[in-house]
Amino acid sequence: MKALFRATVLDTPDDPFHGGALRAESDLGLLVQDGVIVARAAYGTLRAAHPDSRVHDLREGLLLPGLIDTHVHFPQLRVIGALGRPLLDWLRESALPEEARLADTAYAQPLAQEFVQGLLAAGTTTALVFGSHFASAVDAFCAEADRRGLRATTGLVVSDRILRPDLLTTPQRAYDEGKALADRWHGVGRLRYAVTPRFSVSCTDDLLESCAALAKDIDHAMVTSHINESPAEVQQVRELFEGSADYLDTYDRHGLVDRDCVLAHNVHPSDRELDLLATREATISHCPTSNAALGSGMFPMRDHLERGVHVALGSDVGGGTGLSLFKEGLQAYFVQQLLADRGQPLNPAHLLHLATAAGARALDLSDQVGDLSVGKQMDAVWLAPAAGTPLDIGLRHAGDASDALAKVFAMAHSGDVRGVWVGGDQVLETRHLNSRSAE
Ligand code: GUN
Ligand code: ZN
Repeated sequence: MKALFRATVLDTPDDPFHGGALRAESDLGLLVQDGVIVARAAYGTLRAAHPDSRVHDLREGLLLPGLIDTHVHFPQLRVIGALGRPLLDWLRESALPEEARLADTAYAQPLAQEFVQGLLAAGTTTALVFGSHFASAVDAFCAEADRRGLRATTGLVVSDRILRPDLLTTPQRAYDEGKALADRWHGVGRLRYAVTPRFSVSCTDDLLESCAALAKDIDHAMVTSHINESPAEVQQVRELFEGSADYLDTYDRHGLVDRDCVLAHNVHPSDRELDLLATREATISHCPTSNAALGSGMFPMRDHLERGVHVALGSDVGGGTGLSLFKEGLQAYFVQQLLADRGQPLNPAHLLHLATAAGARALDLSDQVGDLSVGKQMDAVWLAPAAGTPLDIGLRHAGDASDALAKVFAMAHSGDVRGVWVGGDQVLETRHLNSRSAE
């Protein structure tokens, strides 16, 4: 049976960084069949043409495309909020001891449930997820993501030096375990595989070479890692890779940087790196709450965009302070404001684009998700704040759609998410969902 969604719909099918504007339509109908939007028109028109369709009345609040988180760590959910340390100290003291616990599948399984639930509750329908150093924990995450219907790309995180010994592997084992995971999960349901060297600090050239071999042997695998995050980390990479031109070169000389590569952070890039990222068509995942919480620096977004580098948004949990991409969008806005004339001015349409369509492009999923046009998957988040909350009051008094969206980025949190759909399937339902078979 066809489903007909009735809502005020906001999305950014035309890139606002290249002249596009926010698309906003009220009392719109989205007709969905087999998970795909097959018609988009005034609700009354679609209802008259499809009187048997099942109506989801979402007129309260706003319907947005499902959010796309391009950098988030599954093992770090329980250590969000460990403030006060720079990156390398935070990794050693907070993140890695927790990551070591995932060796135990009995620990990883409930964590996978909490993590997938947390993403969906935040309105995130697609995510590029940094997995675990343990294949059994990656299995646990994939099984849970598949069960809940999350659109996830993930993989085994690999390192072969400097980190605590229980997190290290070898180039051969990294290849073998990664290949076995990809054979089990790549292309299953909404899951795909991402080859995931942790960062150059913890990866020898031999390990990066095995990652490149694995990426070649998996049809349409993604590659993801970290780059140029903190000054101390950049300096360590310089010392470890004396023969490399810069941090990006440590990946690029193994052929790891291309259209299917997403690198998180890039807070401290050189011009050469920016130009090469643009040439390679790779994406930088900008993770602004993490950059602020770890004191990594202020992201030079304008330099990226002026040089043609693709940028999307990531929560970087647990360096980041939560799973909400609304909070990341707001923090991105703050940082660019603070950079003053070196900053990239951002309006609400830019923020929505970074949190949706830009992520879809990064993951090479633009033909399926990122906006709510005909032909796209019905991946959507319904925001309907409780009566009397500041966001509810704000939305009721918004001057126009852009103003309403600004209020969403300023104030929305998971308590305002009332429904989430992936491929037309309702994957999250909270308080009194309003769905009827006829109107
Ligand atoms: N660099 C290497 N590992 C990590 C991580 O877990 N978080 C962040 N923010 N940076 C990293
Ligand atoms: Zn990260």
